[in-house]
Amino acid sequence: MGVGPSAYREGKGQGELRRALRACRGAFLALAFVSAVINVLYLTGSVYMLEVYDRVLASRSVPTLVAISILAAALYGFQAALDVLRGRVLTRVGNAVDNGVSERVHDVIVRTPLRRRVGGDGLQPLRDLDQVRGFLASGGPTALFDLPWLPFYLGICFLFHFWIGMTALIGALVLIAVTILTDVMTRSPARETVSHGAVRFALAEQARRNAEALHALGMAGRIATRWSAANAAYLSSQTQAADVTSSFGALGKVLRMMLQSAVLGVGAYLVILQEASAGVIIAGSILSARALAPAELAIANWKGFVAARQSWRRLEELLESLPPQPALVALPAPGAAVSVETLGVAPPGSLALTLADVTFSLKAGQGLGVIGPSGAGKSTLARALVGVWAPVRGHVRLDGAALDQWTPDALGAHLGYLPQDVELLEGTIAENIARFRPDAPASAIIAAAKAADVHDLILRQPAGYDTRLGEGGIGLSAGQRQRIGLARALFGDPFLVVLDEPNSNLDAEGDAALTQAIAGVRRRGGVAIVIAHRPSALAAVDMALLLVDGTQRAFGPKEAILAKLVPPAQAAGAGAQIRLVSEGREGDDGQSRG
Ligand SMILES: Nc1ncnc2c1ncn2[C@@H]1O[C@H](COP(=O)(O)OP(=O)(O)O)[C@@H](O)[C@H]1O
Ligand SMILES: [Mg+2]
Repeated sequence: MGVGPSAYREGKGQGELRRALRACRGAFLALAFVSAVINVLYLTGSVYMLEVYDRVLASRSVPTLVAISILAAALYGFQAALDVLRGRVLTRVGNAVDNGVSERVHDVIVRTPLRRRVGGDGLQPLRDLDQVRGFLASGGPTALFDLPWLPFYLGICFLFHFWIGMTALIGALVLIAVTILTDVMTRSPARETVSHGAVRFALAEQARRNAEALHALGMAGRIATRWSAANAAYLSSQTQAADVTSSFGALGKVLRMMLQSAVLGVGAYLVILQEASAGVIIAGSILSARALAPAELAIANWKGFVAARQSWRRLEELLESLPPQPALVALPAPGAAVSVETLGVAPPGSLALTLADVTFSLKAGQGLGVIGPSGAGKSTLARALVGVWAPVRGHVRLDGAALDQWTPDALGAHLGYLPQDVELLEGTIAENIARFRPDAPASAIIAAAKAADVHDLILRQPAGYDTRLGEGGIGLSAGQRQRIGLARALFGDPFLVVLDEPNSNLDAEGDAALTQAIAGVRRRGGVAIVIAHRPSALAAVDMALLLVDGTQRAFGPKEAILAKLVPPAQAAGAGAQIRLVSEGREGDDGQSRG
């Protein structure tokens, strides 16, 4: 659970990946069986050779040669079919595991930043899942399935002759030692590759998001240099892992070939001593090479195996630390009151409270303006009010029920939230307003747009409500995004609407629309909480809360609070900053006004 606040109730998840894999138990049994058949079929070549040497050549019989050749060809064909089948089943097992947990992995990716500080680009779990699935679908597991047959082949070698068996056994032990060495030596480079990779991705993503600033300020080259350094570190750890695998892979291959010759040599010695036939030594040599082929293949695939194993562990740990949200008893829609009790909040991954001891309550139909200087904890309060950051202390309650008594999806329907840095999602304007609810009625979308007074603005877009927005809402100005974000917050008439500096990018017309929207929420019996540093946003609220340094300095009727802060002469001015006269502090953007 990390350091993050964990007021959310969390059940215990047990090895979700393992469960997803266990769901494929049938497939694995089938694979084991198919592998068994394939491994027996691997004997085809050796048996054929043995028969040709010992029977055909001895009897000089063409019909026998033809018969056993046809038989061998059929067996080879069968083996090929089974091998293809095995590969396809493994790919599907990988897909099944992926299907079983991909939604959970996405859930975890989205929830992690609310709980702790995330390193890299935060998408590592997705890459880990790809790694696991990729490995399952690769030749790696095939080798692992063949590995248990090594003793079987060794046994057969012993049946041919004790010394042929011994030679193969020694070869096997050497190869196993090489495998273990490969494993040990690739572990840390594999881990480093992942962490350097995440840094490299995060840097590239950050540069991409800030492309405009990078170019305008001439930072592109310097940021590219920083990225190159991260990339070089990534490449070097990757090279290290690849070097280990490729050298040991080559060593494994040569060792196997050496073994084949060694068995032949030992066999020849045995023939000289008249202890074995020529057929036996050739078949034995082929067979012992066959026995060690899976070990050789395993060494060649070991890097993928180590990476997949590490990904697996990371994913298991992560999934366990953020178990699925438990199903909670469905509560009736709230409609009476919002109350905040001795609320204390710390940002994810931090232990220091940025908001402490905030207590107030609002009844249906009330509107609250939250004011205070920059860094006072206003956005922190907004996030706690909508359940984004879990409180460290105290509660936020809707009709008496703390936010964590709702499942997030159910709660979302009762909440409207406009974040300070509003970002829309890739999709149409209508989808964005409807919060991507597939069954959203057009009337509700249009009602929300009208409540935010963006209906006309949307109709002026190239395809109206069906205008597609790019990532983050590209295609709209900041003010337009903010107003569509407002419509999204109002969609579905949620009981509690929290707007974090909703007018930061608005013009006078937008200000009027905002005032109307807030009044509308109150009129229909909702509660509106508006974070503001311009009084214009406070026109439609009746209560005010002053935050300074993360603590509540004043709460009460708006007029009473504002009277303490703003000299009466300025209170009317639309662009006036809230000046904390009593505190001697200045407004949010630092522009002081005399
Ligand atoms: N994600 C975060 N991680 C750590 N500290 C944060 C985070 N967000 C805000 N803070 C800190 O919390 C304090 C309050 O910030 P915030 O609530 O955004 O203030 P406001 O919205 O009033 O300007 C600030 O000191 C800020 O440094
Ligand atoms: Mg803020």
